[in-house]
Amino acid sequence: MTKTIGIICGSLRKNSYNRIIAQALTEMDNSVEFRWIEINGLPLFNEDLEMGGDPESVTSFKSAIRDVDGIMIVSPEYNSGIPGVLKNALDWASRPAKSSVLSKKPVGIIGATPGGMGTAFAQMQTRQILEAMQAHVLPFQKVLISQVHEKIDSEQQELTDEKTKRYLQRYLQQFMNWIDHTPTLE
Ligand code: FNR
Repeated sequence: MTKTIGIICGSLRKNSYNRIIAQALTEMDNSVEFRWIEINGLPLFNEDLEMGGDPESVTSFKSAIRDVDGIMIVSPEYNSGIPGVLKNALDWASRPAKSSVLSKKPVGIIGATPGGMGTAFAQMQTRQILEAMQAHVLPFQKVLISQVHEKIDSEQQELTDEKTKRYLQRYLQQFMNWIDHTPTLE
């Protein structure tokens, strides 16, 4: 059966490098169905909003996560941490705490930056946050893309660096394998 991967981009910027990287990923394996899961329409998380039932945008967001075999987060780093918009989305997805749509969901994390550290700090935080909701984050492997502006064609909005393409390809294969072998321990 065709596997489905939901892509969540942690940047809302129109010409986001991370979105270009995510787009490149979606073109790497025709046997996979990639679905963009957008986070820009979500309200700021507020427990009061949950009281009368989730807002429509939150319901669709959670369904989109529930309906895929795995989630790939592709995100920048802000101030050595996870962007607020992504944290907001993950907080919504974490609820209700005992039956989060991210619980036991295989998740991969990718990040790109024009800087030199490849979003390492943000990725560590994202992993920790996802573990709090018992998501199954692909262990050991990381995709840290530094100096991303030198690896893409800004006009064409596409990834051109062959080494980065191979890096992503390998990670995608590892992630597909992770979806098949993710632990089922209670
Ligand atoms: C940044 N940027 C950044 N980069 C980085 O590698 N580490 C960091 O801590 C930060 N901090 C940071 C804070 C804020 C508020 C902004 C707006 C930016 C730079 C960031 O990597 C750059 O703007 C990327 O282009 C953002 O990713 P997208 O939008 O291109 O995907």
